[in-house]
Amino acid sequence: MCGIIGINSNKPVSATIINSLKKLEYRGYDSAGMATINNGLINEVKSEGRVENLEKNSLVQNMEGTIGIGHVRWATHGLPNSINAHPHSSQNVSVVHNGIIENSTILKKFLIGKGHKFKSQTDTEVIVHLITENLKTDNIVDSIKKTLKSLHGSFALGIIFKDQPDLIVGARRGSPLAVGYGPNENYLGSDSYALKSMTNKITYLNDGEFCIIKRDHVEFFSEEGTKINKKVLKLSSTEEKYDKGDYKHFMAKEIEEQPNTIKNGINEYLDMSNKDINIYNFPWKSNEITSITLIGCGTAYHSCLMAKYWFEEITSLDVNIDIASEFRYRKNRFKKDTLYVFVSQSGETADTYAALDLCKQSGVKTCAVVNVVESSIARDSEFVLPIHCGTEIGVASTKAFLGQILILYILALKLALWRKDIEKNNFNKKIDDLKKLPKLIEQTLLIDNKIQTISNTFNEAKGSMFLGRGFSYPIALEGALKLKELSYIHAEGYPAGEMKHGPLALIEEGMPVVVLAPRDNYYKKTISNMQEVIARGAKVLLITNKSKDEVISENIWETIEVESTNEDLLPFLLTIPLQKLAYYSALKKGYDIDKPRNLAKSVTVE
Ligand code: G6P
Repeated sequence: MCGIIGINSNKPVSATIINSLKKLEYRGYDSAGMATINNGLINEVKSEGRVENLEKNSLVQNMEGTIGIGHVRWATHGLPNSINAHPHSSQNVSVVHNGIIENSTILKKFLIGKGHKFKSQTDTEVIVHLITENLKTDNIVDSIKKTLKSLHGSFALGIIFKDQPDLIVGARRGSPLAVGYGPNENYLGSDSYALKSMTNKITYLNDGEFCIIKRDHVEFFSEEGTKINKKVLKLSSTEEKYDKGDYKHFMAKEIEEQPNTIKNGINEYLDMSNKDINIYNFPWKSNEITSITLIGCGTAYHSCLMAKYWFEEITSLDVNIDIASEFRYRKNRFKKDTLYVFVSQSGETADTYAALDLCKQSGVKTCAVVNVVESSIARDSEFVLPIHCGTEIGVASTKAFLGQILILYILALKLALWRKDIEKNNFNKKIDDLKKLPKLIEQTLLIDNKIQTISNTFNEAKGSMFLGRGFSYPIALEGALKLKELSYIHAEGYPAGEMKHGPLALIEEGMPVVVLAPRDNYYKKTISNMQEVIARGAKVLLITNKSKDEVISENIWETIEVESTNEDLLPFLLTIPLQKLAYYSALKKGYDIDKPRNLAKSVTVE
């Protein structure tokens, strides 16, 4: 999963390519590179690490050429170094690639047999040599068609040719790709986000299609090489300006923005005057849905798990959840009366998209809960519920998580009302509580100082555990995920009641354990589980909500109290200290908080 940009212009392109690559870094930041054609030659410059390293490279600063391609990499085949960075070039052809070529070993053998020399360990380099080989006998369109036919796996490609210095070829299978239209220039990009600063006129390539981008027009082709017409879409908004403001990191800003995330969601979906939920144009009648399956990856999967608890509590629907990478390879029995919900911040996650695609092929009902409304998952789902949390830059998702769970909670309430699973009074009460949530999040966000000190203990420990029951269990998983992705500390989220079936053996003197025990239905049970870990030497950080009743337990190391609200909404508040704990741990360790090692914001390979 990587980011691709291509620009065909009448003015030098290197600076614009660098700017676009900076926008694409959420797709990968192991290395970056670009190639232009100038004076009849392909110039290629690549650097290990961030785009800023590439930008500082003196070769880029002097790079000329009015046509070029650029790439940010998240390594799949081969180490993340400058040799394996894209573009990969032969004398005639230069290629940037997002995806995985599954038959690269066989193709490489064949090409070596034909005398081609390989420089990198990547799967991508076979594409360069295949095109070069095919160009010996075929024109551009035929050589591309032939090359794409030989490739197994997924790809989005940007290709330039020394002998055709007036065009860029784009091609897609599996990985998304967009074409943009500007004045006297046209573009290729992994997504509209990369192109937004240059244009709001976009065409998305469908699977199997390829295109030839000239400065003044673009031609599209089907998999068979037949010319096709494609629609030009006008993106709704102009580019959103999003910077860190006075914050040190985007993550810190995004954590603090959460009251607004919830406010935006509430404004969008709650009809305050009629105490109702605005979900217009829902394409199905309530009796057409008897079960719901929620699918996502990473944090979005935790949102699905959270939603399962709410849907089961509030509605009479059967609820299943699935990790997208598991769902797509299982023998699913697709059901017409199931609503399949795809949860994703980016809307581009490859596994989630593949799961959606499977559902579409089976003709079942599909709904997307996404942040990026122009994304592939949003475009290809029958119905979309946007999160409205604005751009999220930090790789570790924070505000998108609260945004996702809010929308899923609202959907659960709406379905419950439609199905008459909930009484109107009870529904009204929940709506009233929801309205108060932004303020409660704001107050909970004030718990900074204590968490800063607490984070030292986590940093010094070998590992940690996060325990919760019921509504708090998904939050325990999310808290552990945040700590490991940001601070590289081993952290395990576990159902509190399951500890005695194995993980209790891990507890030793001084091990930090976070216990989420809000005053809900599970409170007493969780406190008992907490005592079991304290008895074995754990240093327990108890996270509960404010109450007039004292916590009755001895030897708790630290307690943090979030604000109080109804049981359904406590998970929103419990999430805040866990996000902050991960943030401060990473801050003290001096790690790159917005771009943790080995990760990427948008995972566009399976
Ligand atoms: C990556 C991100 C996570 C995110 C996951 C799913 O791993 O680092 O923060 O939860 O992808 O992404 P999505 O865009 O589908 O929500």
